[in-house]
Amino acid sequence: MTQNEREIISRKTYIHYLFQRFFRSFSVIKATPAKVLFIVVYLFIVMLVGLQIHQSYYEASLTDSFFAFLEKAAFVCHGLFALGGLFVVLVAIGTPRGSRRTYEALWSAGLTNHGGDAPLLLSKCKDTHAPRVTVWEFAPNKIPLEVWQTKQTTIEGALDITIAKMVWAKGRKVIRVYAVPAAGDLPSLLPWQDKYLSKRNFELVLGEGITGPVTVNLAYVPHVLLGGSTGSGKSVLLKLLLMQALRKGAKVYIADFKGGVDFRAIWHQKCRMCFEEHDLLDMLTELVDKLEQRKKSFQVFGAANIDEYNEAEGTDLPRYVFACDEVAEMLDKTGLTKEQKELVSQIEGKLSTIARQGRAFGIHLILATQRPDATIIPGQIKNNIDFRVCGRADNVLSQIILDSTAAADQIPKDARGRFITRDGTVFQAFLFDEGEL
Ligand SMILES: Nc1ncnc2c1ncn2[C@@H]1O[C@H](COP(=O)(O)OP(=O)(O)OP(=O)(O)O)[C@@H](O)[C@H]1O
Ligand SMILES: [Mg+2]
Repeated sequence: MTQNEREIISRKTYIHYLFQRFFRSFSVIKATPAKVLFIVVYLFIVMLVGLQIHQSYYEASLTDSFFAFLEKAAFVCHGLFALGGLFVVLVAIGTPRGSRRTYEALWSAGLTNHGGDAPLLLSKCKDTHAPRVTVWEFAPNKIPLEVWQTKQTTIEGALDITIAKMVWAKGRKVIRVYAVPAAGDLPSLLPWQDKYLSKRNFELVLGEGITGPVTVNLAYVPHVLLGGSTGSGKSVLLKLLLMQALRKGAKVYIADFKGGVDFRAIWHQKCRMCFEEHDLLDMLTELVDKLEQRKKSFQVFGAANIDEYNEAEGTDLPRYVFACDEVAEMLDKTGLTKEQKELVSQIEGKLSTIARQGRAFGIHLILATQRPDATIIPGQIKNNIDFRVCGRADNVLSQIILDSTAAADQIPKDARGRFITRDGTVFQAFLFDEGEL
């Protein structure tokens, strides 16, 4: 592309942008009616100038000098100038503050199209749903969203913000960037408070993301998979979820294959625990039997799920949550005898039944793992676990949990309790003190 062609494209883009700001000014005035004052003041000045010109024109019509000619010309053109001026005032009203600075920052950060132009800021306002968040709306200038995403860290540095998400909007005409000031990044410690407990059935709260609380509702997304390398905060998060499940009246079954260090005595009183494979198979068999029983009862009463059944029958069937803190310890078949392998296969079979059918019958899995081994969690189970979060992790583990390297890319290496969901929401998990149980 020649320099000349670039300049033509730039000019066209700029004119297009001026018109976008012009039209935007009407919505700005609608949102902030006080801005209409600028127009009133402008029209007042135009009127004064108009009167003056009119007066001069009248006097000039009596003479024939050069100045008189200019005054006549001014009289003829002043209407046009007044309109041009109004356009400029409206464009100024439609121009968000700091747009020039933003353009230059993005340009310096290398977010440009083939013509060398950066995206143009169209508006900047607080998110109505999350007051901490500012929504930046850009005319992308033909720079696709994928390029924005790959340059996210550079954009954050250039604009001094932390980005929560970037999405297309208005039929892919604009790109919206949801962000908080860089200094308003997530805190590294968020102690749990009982007031955070969700009132919704059967919603569990995980932590706080930039745009607000991050939750999972087991009534809709029945199973949870937590990943992360050692010390990333999985056990704390798992226990946070189990504590809430207990509070909401669920029965919690825990397989603890890590020598009982993670679950203190208090958990043994409140939950059903198992520490070895035969017990585990019995526990899972019991859950699958419950599932089959419920299936029959629900069919008889024509209930589609546990909530419908409870409501129709006036009963209070509890949900069951089966948790395992290190799935790898439970399912790893390496070095096992034939009988042991057979036992693990049976365990896998039961887990897979619950993963496939558990939702409607109120039977849920919450599994955690730190082992980056694709063979550990069979596809049959993993593919039925839709809600997956990953803490600090390497590429392999992140890929296994999230099907992307997002956790390796976005979770700092020294972070504790910082996780990312599969849809890219980063959050700080609440730190829960078991003493509160
Ligand atoms: N949400 C959190 N906020 C702040 N600190 C946390 C949080 N979660 C965990 N931590 C800190 O990290 C430490 C390790 O957490 P945790 O035992 O849950 O890690 P883990 O992922 O289960 O590790 P491992 O895989 O070795 O069992 C905790 O002792 C605590 O100090
Ligand atoms: Mg742990």
